Amino acid sequence: MTFPEFDRLPWDGPDRLVFDGVAVEFCAPPLLYERDSVDGRFIVGRTPGMLRALLRELGGRTPARIVDIGVYKGGSMVLLNELFRPEALLGLEINAADIAPLTRYLVERGGGRLRWARGIDQADRKSVHLACDRTFGDAPIDLVIDDASHWYAKTLASFTALFPRLATGGCYVIEDWAWAHWPDPHWQRDFGGPHFADRSPLSNLLVDLMLLVAGAPSAFERVAFDAVAIYVTRGAGELARDFDPFALQHNRGQPIPRFAPSSGARAPVHESPGFVFRGGGR
Ligand SMILES: C[S@@+](CC[C@H](N)C(=O)[O-])C[C@H]1O[C@@H](n2cnc3c(N)ncnc32)[C@H](O)[C@@H]1O
Repeated sequence: MTFPEFDRLPWDGPDRLVFDGVAVEFCAPPLLYERDSVDGRFIVGRTPGMLRALLRELGGRTPARIVDIGVYKGGSMVLLNELFRPEALLGLEINAADIAPLTRYLVERGGGRLRWARGIDQADRKSVHLACDRTFGDAPIDLVIDDASHWYAKTLASFTALFPRLATGGCYVIEDWAWAHWPDPHWQRDFGGPHFADRSPLSNLLVDLMLLVAGAPSAFERVAFDAVAIYVTRGAGELARDFDPFALQHNRGQPIPRFAPSSGARAPVHESPGFVFRGGGR
């Protein structure tokens, strides 16, 4: 297919795309928590700007096999399918609850190409591999988008599982890496609420990636980032599944600098069952 250009997408207003009768609405909190996906209209928890940045980063490549970690209301799976018409798309979600409109969409528009694996923790590498084996077999993955826990340890766990499975030139996207550094009072004064306060900042993964590009450049070809996401490009070098990232990092025998968790937590401004996300200021 032709690679989609952002400005030529079927926009129906600044925050809404309509693909052949299926709408995808870009929503930010608190609207994101309040609106649910229904048949023919799906909610995606990102901004049009994030989509523009993703398309720019893919640079004309159309991913054929995609993993979407953190399905939430289903809009990201629908968007990825409508944009790229991949051969196979796998959604991974810790919440085991069904979203009936999404399940119907995947059957009706999928023709067997689209799978949603529910009740899977992104850190459970065994289950992640099993779901990938079932969806892709041995075929390499072209694009992974991790918009799930945003916790360092879990995000690193699925990265070590999935990054080795990428095709050469494949792209691994980690969204919202900067939550510990966002200036909003919810993040600075309230420490992001209980979901994030005692967690290690995800920016530590950016530190890891910087050192992995230095330590194993054949496998970690390039790391780029903007305010909302990290983009890691897979090189051709061999990399074992579930590799140990710390064995590939070198700092002349010195400890690697780390961002620390905060020391306490106040009540979150916005909370949804699975996660707390970018609460606005009070
Ligand atoms: C920010 S939302 C995802 C939004 C979605 N990608 C979109 O663009 O509309 C985060 C989702 O990740 C899920 N999640 C949180 N922790 C997870 C984990 N450890 N493993 C898998 N999914 C997780 C949450 O249940 C929630 O549905």
